[in-house]
Amino acid sequence: MSEKDGFPHFMLKEIFEQPQALKDAVVSRVSLAEAEIRIANEIRISSEELRALRRINIVASGTSRHAGMAGQYMFQDLLHLFADVDYASEYEYRNPPIGPEEITIVITQSGETSDTLAAQRLARRKGSRTIAVTNVMKSTVAKEADGVLYTHAGPEISIASTKAFTAQMAVLFLLSTYLGQVRGNLSREALRGWIEELLALPEKADTVLRCADQCRRLADQFRGFEDFLFLGRAVHFPIAMDGALKLKEVSYVHAEGYPAGETKHGPNALIDENLPVVIIATCDQNDPGSVTRYKKSVSDVLGFKKQSARVIALATEGDTEISEIADHTIFIPRAPELLAPILEIIPLQLFAYHVATRKGLDVDRPRNLVKSVQE
Ligand code: BG6
Repeated sequence: MSEKDGFPHFMLKEIFEQPQALKDAVVSRVSLAEAEIRIANEIRISSEELRALRRINIVASGTSRHAGMAGQYMFQDLLHLFADVDYASEYEYRNPPIGPEEITIVITQSGETSDTLAAQRLARRKGSRTIAVTNVMKSTVAKEADGVLYTHAGPEISIASTKAFTAQMAVLFLLSTYLGQVRGNLSREALRGWIEELLALPEKADTVLRCADQCRRLADQFRGFEDFLFLGRAVHFPIAMDGALKLKEVSYVHAEGYPAGETKHGPNALIDENLPVVIIATCDQNDPGSVTRYKKSVSDVLGFKKQSARVIALATEGDTEISEIADHTIFIPRAPELLAPILEIIPLQLFAYHVATRKGLDVDRPRNLVKSVQE
């Protein structure tokens, strides 16, 4: 797994490994026949304690924190349980008022990021049970956690995290449905539906990867720009954040992720023909909230076009509205609102990769960065 297998860079190989990584993260942990999520032996926290939970804290750094931000929407939407997300490097300064009625989920691909380990130790000192979501077996974070959910994404060599990120979001979704199962929020029928959607993800990820050439062409067209704004609402906002981080990390281009609804409070002053906008404007027609947010995104794009901005939109396959007004549209297969982010990040990973390679940069080892900050 640690060779490039014919790919020019580890980052591209790992982007294309995502369908398999999603399979490996999910298949062995669900039973469609029994409509059950089976991770009790990994969580190692009793159902009684899980039913007594009053809050979930999520702590991570970098791309892992963006997975945690997506997880926040999953936990809150499915469990109606308050979930909070913190930067690992800021966690101690917040002196979090937590105890036995909260679990602290620490997300770290390497399992060795010092800030995340420090946050885990602080949570344990305060009496909070901890669950580690990590990609490295027997890593420090795993050894010190109550429960461990491995992402099973295989070795991730590229400094920019891709397959571990999508696997983290799939694992967080599994955890949210497992908690729904234990706490009684989700019926058997609902669980069966979610399991079917999880099992359908790898094939949908394969479908998204067919946009690779389109992303390469977009990178050719946009490689000269030095600033980008990535926008998303709700559970898509974390994807805007990670799309921007990917571009920054590997191509050294300044990019900012922002909640789409906040653009009017400042960033709109930046938007003109020199600042391309990437907006995540997918729509789950079965989710009224998603439809409402989509309409807001259509309005946003109409406004950006009036400001002469170049707009790249991510839209759901079959979309006929936003794709008519955006300059470029990348189509994402239909998926439930809470799972679409796992697919949406893939074109943004490819875009960042191709911008970086066109600039002749060392994609797998960007300057000034390391795979895991351990000091
Ligand atoms: C950075 C990496 O150093 O650490 C990022 O470049 C990563 O890709 C971040 O998201 C957090 O790392 P980890 O291992 O804690 O997920």
